[in-house]
Amino acid sequence: MAMLDSLRAAYDGKLLVDADDVAPYLTDWRKIWTGAAIAVTLPETVDQVCTLVRWCGQNGVRLVPQGGNTGMSGGATPPAEGLNLVVALTRLNRIRAIDPVNNTMTVDAGVILASVQEAARDAGRYFPLSLAAEGSCTIGGNLATNAGGTAVLRYGNARELCLGLEVVTPTGEVWSGLKGLRKDNSGYDLRDLYIASEGTLGIITGAVLKLYPQPAARLASLVAVADCGAAMGLLEVLRARYADRLTAFELLSRECLELVLRHGHDARDPFGESYPWYILIEFTDFTSEEAARAAIEEALGQAFEDGIVLDAVIAESLAQTQVLWALREGISEAQSAEGPTIKHDIALPISAIAAFMPAAVEAVRVSHPDIRPVLFGHLGDGSLHFNYSPGPGEDKASFMARQAEVNRIVHDLVMAAGGTISAEHGLGVLRRDEADAYRPTAERQLMRSIKQALDPQGIMNPGKLLAL
Ligand code: FAD
Ligand code: MLT
Ligand code: ZN
Repeated sequence: MAMLDSLRAAYDGKLLVDADDVAPYLTDWRKIWTGAAIAVTLPETVDQVCTLVRWCGQNGVRLVPQGGNTGMSGGATPPAEGLNLVVALTRLNRIRAIDPVNNTMTVDAGVILASVQEAARDAGRYFPLSLAAEGSCTIGGNLATNAGGTAVLRYGNARELCLGLEVVTPTGEVWSGLKGLRKDNSGYDLRDLYIASEGTLGIITGAVLKLYPQPAARLASLVAVADCGAAMGLLEVLRARYADRLTAFELLSRECLELVLRHGHDARDPFGESYPWYILIEFTDFTSEEAARAAIEEALGQAFEDGIVLDAVIAESLAQTQVLWALREGISEAQSAEGPTIKHDIALPISAIAAFMPAAVEAVRVSHPDIRPVLFGHLGDGSLHFNYSPGPGEDKASFMARQAEVNRIVHDLVMAAGGTISAEHGLGVLRRDEADAYRPTAERQLMRSIKQALDPQGIMNPGKLLAL
């Protein structure tokens, strides 16, 4: 109680302490992790964030930054023990400035991603980061996890879309790096250090984002293929021919489509028969929708003759493009609605994927024949969600008891193929120890030195990303 009085005396922003009010901030989106906090704070200014950090440092309290709480790895959930304070950034949510000549937008970290996209659109520009959680995740959370999503093939991850950052450091000072420069070699790259640091080195309070011209003539197609080898063949053909006008290349297995058909609202199978794999492709920046359609028809017609493609539907309109996207974007929700999930967030060199997929499916099947692979992802950029759902009738506890072994089987193969076990969701607590075990010794030492140098008291998002 005395501690809360002290916090109230130091900090004049919004504070939640009632159990019902704080509960949504203490559990993650997947409902796997639940922690404890002395309070949840919702600062509206950078000054208030500084005050909170300083107060925590003086009182031995650890801070857990939180954006939209849509993260998949438990990074935004406080630990279950110790003195923790959740700092939710959702009220720090102003669009600070748009510079249409420089093609940049400066925003507070708590702006919802969909609002960033909308503000860019209103200014006649485009902000390309796109993911199914965009209606609730924040740009600060996107940068703290270096989010990927469905447009990386053309535009890159959150990191590539950010030119500058403002951060409140673990001592409560503001590092203002809000530069809108495309070239800047003035020392260590602090921006890049903070991106993907998952709140363990400071709190991101503002960012300068890159804007692009609005894409023209957007058109999607859902393509059926027999296996990942065929999918990779199609990717090669389309990239060689259309380069950056191919803006998305997303893989989903039949199992994924069935999950969405079962749990999605108004979802229906666009094909008359079922196929083992589907690719959602999107073209933009043709001179017109007709030109995009003609290009897709021509490319797919050739791929069909070459035996790469089994079937395809091409959207008739933007509305149909969105209907096709809903089949892809509904997978996470549908898999959650179905029950517990063993998730993998891997990336591989594009050239290794066709061999990896059947080998990894088979390696898991040998020791876990009854669990269901739910395989999908951002195939065009090499990142995959090699997920699993329980087989019929298996309860949650018995299914989740397999997680460590399934992870080991999949991740050993990923590492042997030159990949990563953490492509876009962040390590949080879910992948922290496994990632550390795979790390070369020199990398482990460098990471610990960085954390120790910037946050010697260990108050920033304890237990996430690195176990200390
Ligand atoms: P949170 O979940 O609140 O936090 C995530 C991490 O960032 C935590 O470690 C937290 O401490 C830290 N953090 C948050 N804000 C700050 C800040 N201002 N300063 C410092 N640290 C901070 N991710 C993808 O990459 N690609 C996808 O395609 C994708 N699809 C998704 C689909 C669904 C349906 C859902 C629910 C999630 C999906 N995600 C995806 C995961 C998630 O949306 C992203 O990780 C997102 O970037 C998290 O943003 P957030 O604001 O919700 O962050
Ligand atoms: C997605 O790409 O839809 C999410 O990142 C994946 C997931 O929920 O595993
Ligand atoms: Zn993803």
